[in-house]
Amino acid sequence: MTARVQAPAHAGGEGAPASAHEAPGGAARALPMVAALALSAAALAFGEWGADLGLSELNVYKVLRLVHVVVAVVAFGSTFGIPVLMPLAGRGGVATLRVALHFAEQLEEKIVVPGSLLVAATGGGLILSDVSGYQDDLPAWIVVSIALWVAAAVIAFTVQNPAVKRALAVLEGAADNGPVPQAMGPIAGRLDRVGKVLALLAILSLFLMTWRPGLW
Ligand code: HEM
Repeated sequence: MTARVQAPAHAGGEGAPASAHEAPGGAARALPMVAALALSAAALAFGEWGADLGLSELNVYKVLRLVHVVVAVVAFGSTFGIPVLMPLAGRGGVATLRVALHFAEQLEEKIVVPGSLLVAATGGGLILSDVSGYQDDLPAWIVVSIALWVAAAVIAFTVQNPAVKRALAVLEGAADNGPVPQAMGPIAGRLDRVGKVLALLAILSLFLMTWRPGLW
């Protein structure tokens, strides 16, 4: 996530109070994760027992691979727009930057995290399927992809998400149409660098999934 925030040229307009942009609490907030967990369990079961539903093993495999790729595109592809959004929001001032940060936070919560879980589960379903035979002989490129998936999850949870929360905290007391606080600079720089690392991990995974290099 690029946050090379420039001093706002003008007021970002009379935004609604910050709380208007925060995610709803309670059950509504948990819904995407609950849905992703249920779909992930279904994907693993489908990989293992899908053929018992009357589908050919190959069709089970194709359905899982299609879901795997579509979810990977939606979950990881959506994050590539953030480096375009943040500088724009930064130039608009505190109010627009706050909205953009809430957008990034909710994108993570509603799309990226549930989607990432479903990518791993459908990947697991593909491994379990008899078509691939990967469960008997797991190729190196899948082992490395799983390691990259875990690394991305750890970085997102321990570095990126807390940094977004810190950025929102810095904007907490700032006037909507006032200058972006100087304290945002180092946070923005870090969000930008770590965002690039996460993007690189997604592209590396895509390379491994399509090129399937013989690593060892
Ligand atoms: C836990 C992580 C993952 C696991 C276990 C996993 C597993 C798999 C497996 C077993 C296949 C089928 C390969 C075959 O047909 O022989 C596959 C295909 C694919 N995966 Fe993943 N995957 C993971 C993460 C990802 C990620 C993060 C992405 C994208 C960013 C991704 C994108 C793809 C694509 C595009 C294909 C289709 C490749 C093709 O048919 O040429 N996967 N994955």
